[in-house]
Amino acid sequence: MSNIGSYEDRLKNFSWSIAEKELGYNPGDTINIGWYCTDRICQMGKADKTALIWEGREEDNMRKYTFNDLRILTNTFGTFLRKVGISDGDRVCLFMDKAPELYIGFLSILKIGAVAQPLFSAFGDESLFVRLENAGTKAIITSRKHASKVQKILDRLPDLEYIIVVDDDGKKALKNKEIAFSLDQATPVDQFEIFPTKAESNSVLHYTSGTTGQPKGVKHVHYSLISQYLTAKWVLDLQDDDIYWCTADPGWVTGTSYGIIGAWSLGITQCVKDSGFAAETWYRFIEKHKITMWYSAPTAIRSLMKAGDEVIKQFDHSSLRHLASVGEPLNAEAVVWSQKVFGLPFLDTYWQTETGSMMITNYPGMKIRPGSMGKPFPGLTCALLDPDTYEPIHETNKPGLIAFQFDWPARMRTYWNNQETFEKKFKNGWYITGDRSTIDKDGYFWFIGRDDDVINTGGHLVSPFEVESALLEHEAVAESAVVSKPDDINMEVVKAFVTLKPGFVASQELELEIMNFIRKKLSPLAMPQEIEYIDLLPKTRSGKIMRRVLHAKEWGEEIGDISTLEND
Ligand code: WTA
Repeated sequence: MSNIGSYEDRLKNFSWSIAEKELGYNPGDTINIGWYCTDRICQMGKADKTALIWEGREEDNMRKYTFNDLRILTNTFGTFLRKVGISDGDRVCLFMDKAPELYIGFLSILKIGAVAQPLFSAFGDESLFVRLENAGTKAIITSRKHASKVQKILDRLPDLEYIIVVDDDGKKALKNKEIAFSLDQATPVDQFEIFPTKAESNSVLHYTSGTTGQPKGVKHVHYSLISQYLTAKWVLDLQDDDIYWCTADPGWVTGTSYGIIGAWSLGITQCVKDSGFAAETWYRFIEKHKITMWYSAPTAIRSLMKAGDEVIKQFDHSSLRHLASVGEPLNAEAVVWSQKVFGLPFLDTYWQTETGSMMITNYPGMKIRPGSMGKPFPGLTCALLDPDTYEPIHETNKPGLIAFQFDWPARMRTYWNNQETFEKKFKNGWYITGDRSTIDKDGYFWFIGRDDDVINTGGHLVSPFEVESALLEHEAVAESAVVSKPDDINMEVVKAFVTLKPGFVASQELELEIMNFIRKKLSPLAMPQEIEYIDLLPKTRSGKIMRRVLHAKEWGEEIGDISTLEND
């Protein structure tokens, strides 16, 4: 029997107080995600249950932690952070690979009432800089491997006081503002006073990209737990004996909402593999740990499809009982394929960093239509809006903007230091997601695409503006325009058009050099997979670059109205 039972019945009787009651939370109480994911689970008699099975790049590098270990280690790390001088409200960035300290560090930041700011460890120094500067981050928790990137930008970050290095072997002298901390060597702390955060206290700050301007810090609060707990329970269907694997990195919202909070607040055993994608490694991981519930992403699923069905047969995946996916459109073929090879469909889930928890999804027991995102989670008021009037569309199969009434617990509270952009997200009282969809006659949602120029490459949002700005810092680049181009696996990848400054000659060597420049400055995700040299960029008469024209060319689409084009 699935946790949700009947979707239709849940719609009829829904209230978020279902989750509040199960969590023993009464409005006005303190609510701390760190406590809910550790101490409370121990109090429920699961102290000795495995919370985390962690595996490094090498398979024999494995560690296991019980919920009591998590409780004590988060107390220990929290005590250290307090001693250093970090207190409630301070922003503390987590910048490292998927080491156990990342997960433990995250919860310990929340336990002391500080704000956790996880950033993807592959970010280059410029990507890191804009996000730390915007948040006024006080401390960064990192590893030796990544600390040098922080050193490079330190003198531009007056608010950053501490660089906490969690794996320092003491061989090299500590640099400016660095402090070494070893969780293994620290004295374990059993008793700890958790900061009494309330529902609206800040918890997590995730950065996301828009079309214009620098990345935006999405501010979440401890009350988000209510949605994350219930969606993890009803959509991921997590049950007491499950072994759960969320493949997302906690640098992105899936990796925290469901790779930490959702599952541990339910007392579920989670697995983490600290390595990139490789079909054999992933299948071996599932076999070895007898994973039952697997939450992944379309790009990974397409890569598995590409690796072929032969490799699947070499491994036992009979433990799997439930699969789900998020981050980009999940094509119908991928759902049909997973049904064929695993005997289970991947259930598509749609949501955003801003929403904090799942919004439109498929549910265990509900009939799946491959290629559809499913239906809104109970309690949500969702509509498709006309893009001109922002009024709800009532006809079926007519494209519109996906919008919600902004009233579920995990919704963002604002963009950090950017209330103005936050307010622009609302029209006629609706929160506008920026995505387009249709609804069929039975209420299923079918994703069409984004309503802006943001590039979704392999489930990661890349801002064309950020890449264009970074390109301009290369000595050879005079002007640039960044769009997406189609890709079999990642769906979209970044493509840059550039005009060169006088004295620079277009060559393949220069192309590679520019690509590498962006990879180091921003990240491998933001790195253009192709650079096309162009004499003149298409612009409007007022001088704005028309990405739309270049985009249409890449996707073989009609260019549309170009009457304002300057150089046609
Ligand atoms: C896209 C990730 C199609 C969408 C949790 C959204 C999807 C953006 C799906 C948010 C899906 C997410 N089908 N598109 N199932 N899920 N998206 O903030 O454009 O990193 O607005 O949050 O990814 O990406 P974000």
